Parts: sequence; C-alpha cells; structure tokens
Amino acid sequence: MRRTEVKSVLTGADEGNKVNVKGWIRTNRGSKNVSFIALNDGSTIKNLQVVVDNDKFSEDLVKRLGTGACVSFTGDLVASQGSGQAVELLAETIEVLGDADPEDVKLTILQPKRHTLEKLREQAHLRFRTNTFGAVFRVRNALAYAIHKYFNDKGYVYVNTPIITGSDAEGAGEMFQVTTLDLKNAPLNDQKEVDFEQDFFGKATNLTVSGQLEAELAALALGKVYTFGPTFRAENSNTTRHVAEFWMIEPEVAFADLNENMDIAEDFLKYVIKYAMDNCSDDLEFLHKREVDADKQKKAEDRNELPLLERLNFVVQNEFERLTYTEAIDLLRNSKPNKKKRFQYLIEGWGADLQSEHERYLVEKKFKKPVILTDYPADIKAFYMRQNDDGKTVRAMDILFPGIGEIVGGSQREERLDKLKEGIERFDIPEEHIWWYLETRKLGTAPHSGFGLGFERLVMFVTGMTNIRDVIPFPRTPKNAEF
Ligand code: 4AD
Ligand code: MG
Repeated sequence: MRRTEVKSVLTGADEGNKVNVKGWIRTNRGSKNVSFIALNDGSTIKNLQVVVDNDKFSEDLVKRLGTGACVSFTGDLVASQGSGQAVELLAETIEVLGDADPEDVKLTILQPKRHTLEKLREQAHLRFRTNTFGAVFRVRNALAYAIHKYFNDKGYVYVNTPIITGSDAEGAGEMFQVTTLDLKNAPLNDQKEVDFEQDFFGKATNLTVSGQLEAELAALALGKVYTFGPTFRAENSNTTRHVAEFWMIEPEVAFADLNENMDIAEDFLKYVIKYAMDNCSDDLEFLHKREVDADKQKKAEDRNELPLLERLNFVVQNEFERLTYTEAIDLLRNSKPNKKKRFQYLIEGWGADLQSEHERYLVEKKFKKPVILTDYPADIKAFYMRQNDDGKTVRAMDILFPGIGEIVGGSQREERLDKLKEGIERFDIPEEHIWWYLETRKLGTAPHSGFGLGFERLVMFVTGMTNIRDVIPFPRTPKNAEF
C-alpha cells in the first residue's frame, strides 16, 4: 500500500479509509491491552495517534513499539475517541522497519523528557527528531524557498560565486586557507616562505568570506543578481551570533543608490518573514509557546518585550527606522547607559565602532523596531563603499534587528575609479589582487548597490532561537567540527 504522510492524514480527508503511514515513535502511552502511539514522520510538527489493540499482535512485536523505533502501520483512519486529535489510526498490520532498544534510547535525547539545548547540540545527529528542531529546520527551509521566490519573481538572476577564492580583498574577516601542500613538508621559495606556486591552484587560496565582489561583476551585466551560498570566517569569536561557516544572501543591483538598496532590503525582509508566518503556522505557534514558557523562567528584564508571533507581526507591519551613524552616536553618547557607564564600551566620540550593546540599545530600548544605520565613518567600513562628499563617511548601511543586532550589512559601491583606488590604498590592498574588479570601473562603470543578509541570523529572528548554533544543523565554531 502506498504511504500517506502524516500531514495529509491529519487533514482527515481519508477518514473511513485504510491508510499506511511510516514514521518514528515519539511516545507510547498505554496499558496492558492497548497502546497509544504518537507517530511523527517529519511532514508536520503534529503527531498521528496510532491505536494498537495489543491482544491482536504478538507480545514480541508489541514490545518493539517503543520510543525511537521506526514503524510502518496500516489500518483504518477513524474519528478519534480522545480529545487531542480529530482522527486516529487503528493498527491492523504493523511492520517494524528499525528497532530502537529502550536501553540505548535512554542514553539519548530521544528519551521523551525536557533536555537542554546544550545537550541537544551534543546529539545534533538526533536533534532533528525533536519538536523544536523539526520546527526550526522546517522554518529554515521555508525561508530559503521564500528568498529564492522573492528574487526570482522580481527577475533577479541567481549567480553562483566561487567558494574557493584567490582574492582576499573583501577584508570581511579572517580566512580559512585551502591547500593541498603537505603541511609537514611545505615547499619553500627563495625567501624561505611557503611556495604557493607549487600549490594546487598555483597561488594561495582561501574559502570565501563573501560573494559580493564577484556578484558586482555579474550585476554590471545582468542588472539584478543575487547569491545564496556558504561563506566562511575564521574569526575566533565565540558568541551566540557567530559561526565559522554560515550562509549568506547577497543581492547586487545596477543603477540602485543607497536609498533604493534600503527599500529593497526592507521589502525583502518583510516578504520572507511574512512567507514563513503564512506557511509555517504550526511550527511558529509551537516556537512561540516554547519561548513564552522559557520566558516565565527568566528575570523580568531578560524577558522578550513582545512574544515571537507578535514580534514578527510588528516587524512586518512597521517601517524600519532610518538614521545616520552620526545621529546614532549623538543618541548613544547622551543615552542613560552611557552616562551611567553601564555600557561595557562607553561612547566617547564620533568614529567609534558600534558594539552589539549599542546596536541593541538603539533597537530594543530607543526605537523598539528594526533600525537602519547609514553613512558610517570610512575607516571602520570596507574599501569598496562609496565615499560621501564630506570626505569622512561612506554610503554604508547596517540593518539592526531586535534580539539579533546586525542582520544585514550593505552599501552603495564606489563606481568611480579614482575614488575606488583611494579606498584600496587606504586599506593597503595590492591592486594586482583585484585588477579584474577595477576593470569594471574602467569599462562602462555604473552606480550600483547591494547587501548581505546572514541567513542564520534571519532564521534566529524568525524562530526566536537565541543561539546561532541552534538554527544550522551542524554548526562550525572554534574547536568544534563534530558530525
Ligand atoms: O556585514 P558583512 O561582513 O558584509 C559582507 O560580507 C558584505 N560583502 C555584504 C554585501 O554587501 N554584499 O556580512 C553580512 C552579514 C552580516 O550582517 C551578518 O548578518 C552575517 O552576514 N554574518 C554572520 N553570520 C553568522 N556568523 C558570522 N560569523 C557572520 N559574519 C557576518
Ligand atoms: Mg557587517
């Protein structure tokens, strides 16, 4: 018999018919005579109740129907006698596809009780089978789809930029080197330095920190492009918002200035959040309740001001606050936590790099909504950002989200060759490393803008998960590459 997914069974369309379902047993509550099994197959967060009349099956078989086992059930789908569900399946034939010894299950997070997120992380190979991670990864999937749909519907071209890169010009962070040289016996050149001419690519190469520079080349021909791929940063930052391997979405648009760039980013973020709300309501309701319960255990000041679903709604329905870096510095300098020296890094003057405590003050205390900061000092931003006439600031923008801090970083790009060369000089980048990038400024240059969205930070925001390690299946962090 053909299998029906639990999600479809639960619509009740097959009530009165025989169906086959396959899945993993979450719990088996029962008595001597009857077993009530909660079966999950990942198609939805909801379980199907399977009722087994124990007398109809061998004792041996009934014993194997414990938590963790993978089982195929066939039987009539009937209106449920219990209150928790509309329909339930009365088992007629049972086939155990994969046993799970209760003694083994006891040692794992499959054991049906509350486990800490830390514990679940240690068993990341099994955490897909929990309600929380099932929900998180279905939401992650919906967001990925919505991102492609948004850009595709608007005529953007999806481009794949290289993962192994020969350019280290972006300056976005420390890079992971890619080499096939024998580390114990690396060839040296005349200067006694490692001779990368003998390496696989004939030069030193790294894993990319961003596809932006290559995306710009594509945008200056295709008009509107975006990337969506893995990026790598070898920073040793052990925070709840950094991983060494993360996914980034980078649109790049010819003829767009910074204002248009901000409009696109705001519209895009609202669209994908709304998409998840419309298409993942069961999962988001579960995550919402989970957060409300967790908040009850917290001190009042650590609780979320708005619960998850209201937070998402609020972001979708309200305009983001836009202000310049200079305005933000004035606000921060005169803010209570700065005057009372409660910031760890006090804001003394213009030019300071903003720390996450400052970003969160602006978003969570001052404006209570997403904030777009623009026109940062040139010295704390990348070489490719368009210089403003004041000679001090560049056309940068960062989007800051509640609970997250920076979720998007972007800018209008410097399209003027002479100004771009000034930027390159300021950051000490050898011209020969990015000769190809400079050529686009000689051959039909055009104003253009783009931004990068950290995918995991978006998933954090939408699911309410507070540690980035809990929104990517197998997080890569310093001293950790298990699985
Ligand atoms: O601000 P970033 O470094 O910007 C760029 O890489 C530009 N090339 C983007 C562009 O203009 N096309 O990174 C962009 C976003 C950040 O705002 C953040 O959301 C995320 O990437 N991000 C990280 N996410 C997880 N772990 C890390 N270590 C991250 N570093 C940046
Ligand atoms: Mg940034």
